[in-house]
Amino acid sequence: MASNKKNKLRSEDWFGKEGKDGFIYRSWIKNQGYPAHQFKGKPVIGICNTWSEATPCNGHFRELAQFIKNGVYEAGGFPLEFPVMSLGETIIRPTAMLYRNLAAMTVEESIRANPFDAVVLMTGCDKTTPSLVMGAASVDIPSIVLPGGPMLNGKFRGKELGSGTDVWRFDQDFKAGKMSLDDMEEAEACMSRSIGHCNTMGTASTMATMVEALGLTLPGVSSIPAADSRKKMMAHMTGIRAVEMVKEELNISKILTRPAFLNAIKVNSAVGGSTNFVLHLLAIAKRMEVPLTLDDFDIHGSKIPFLLNLMPSGKYLMEDYYYAGGIQVILKELEKHLNTEAITVNGKTLTENSKKARNWNTDVIRPITDPIIQEGGITVVKGNLCTEGAVIKISAASPELLKHKGRAVVFETIEDYHARIDNPDLDIDENSIMVLKNVGPKGYPGMPEVGNMALPKKLIQKGITDMVRISDGRMSGTAYGTVFLHASPESALGSPLALVENGDVIECDVAAKLIHLHVSDEVLAERHKKWKPLELGFDRGYIKLYIDTVNQAHEGADMGFLQ
Ligand code: FES
Repeated sequence: MASNKKNKLRSEDWFGKEGKDGFIYRSWIKNQGYPAHQFKGKPVIGICNTWSEATPCNGHFRELAQFIKNGVYEAGGFPLEFPVMSLGETIIRPTAMLYRNLAAMTVEESIRANPFDAVVLMTGCDKTTPSLVMGAASVDIPSIVLPGGPMLNGKFRGKELGSGTDVWRFDQDFKAGKMSLDDMEEAEACMSRSIGHCNTMGTASTMATMVEALGLTLPGVSSIPAADSRKKMMAHMTGIRAVEMVKEELNISKILTRPAFLNAIKVNSAVGGSTNFVLHLLAIAKRMEVPLTLDDFDIHGSKIPFLLNLMPSGKYLMEDYYYAGGIQVILKELEKHLNTEAITVNGKTLTENSKKARNWNTDVIRPITDPIIQEGGITVVKGNLCTEGAVIKISAASPELLKHKGRAVVFETIEDYHARIDNPDLDIDENSIMVLKNVGPKGYPGMPEVGNMALPKKLIQKGITDMVRISDGRMSGTAYGTVFLHASPESALGSPLALVENGDVIECDVAAKLIHLHVSDEVLAERHKKWKPLELGFDRGYIKLYIDTVNQAHEGADMGFLQ
């Protein structure tokens, strides 16, 4: 843990030093034009910037950082902006999740190695949030998050377009012959028409909600669109608050307590947040040494009413959510469920902060007395197919498929799936259960978002829109369907998921929290004798380190030596 002795700034170990070392620390900072009185003896606020042109969702962060700096200066601090590894979800290959832990390492070591008394974490695109929070959590100095905000609503031929969510719809329409290539190209620019991250309740919006529910942001900031001037004002106020947090010695460990994590689970259920939330929250908790298990998501989240009518589970987008009152309304509606011991970065509780919230559109944010679904959170299922659990997002699933029995159609790898899914001879119907193997944390390093496998073209053309799918992979927060994800342990370890064969009968019963493979233990044991692990072919560098040390989905898929 970083030293943060009372009455002594951490940065004094650099800028307050006498002799040669102090000379060097001060002299080289002065080369940027800062006189000594501007930084010596003042709280130094690191601004951890994930700006990158290869992370389009965070492309406005250079300008936003300036507003944070203005706030820091106003409060008597000295800002120093620094870059860390930035992960652009739509661009980075093979999947941004492979590098979340590496990015977290760059954050942790950048903070630890520099003279920061506090940090402002600039987060936006999916993995930029957990990686920054994980890194900061491992250092434990005062830390405050500024989420960069969602894009404005997409607009296409008189209709609203949701980031990601409508890509899946368009893909189905294209395969069904309802949309041309020209239509698709026109829609591209209509979907992403402003600065900011995905405008659905995808993973980025989920992560922004998560950090506010954890208490790591100023009240209300997470739902403000990136293009709204109030985001800049909040950036200014965040800078001010970072300086005050140094004076109050409000380290991140005082905020990230178990009650805060349970609050985040409840809020995630109410907003219909992404299943990626589970992995990231577990990883952050382990960094803080806060006890949190997969079962906590079920115990504390699955009974919470689902209130937010946003894509992919509902109809509206983040811009509508903000105009309806934003996250503060959700917090107020959840008042009786929230823990009031957990404090936030402004020293108050979530409940105190949201007292004055008003709901301006009850179709966007439903009152708790009239929810969209009474119990709509992420549910954890277990059984012989995944002894450590798998997750399903109820709000994005088809109710009639939540209890289902069908024969397995197995894809050994994602390449196998792509090669065969649209083959007209594939033996599959709408009652089949699609099983995808080898897409877990180690099996396809990084656990790609392929769990919501697109349905076979021949069934889409028949009008089928959903089927039960099971895998050890992830699903984009913008996607939907009756999809069981994060099956743990993963198939690459030779788990029962690795042993499923075509035609095996699988039964799921979400209400009973069950997923069962109707194959005897004896037969599975026989199959296991013949099972061989895939040759992954990574024998050096970060990916080897990742494969050797990453833990399973139910543990957060962090690397063990970082926890
Ligand atoms: Fe960046 Fe969705 S791609 S938030």
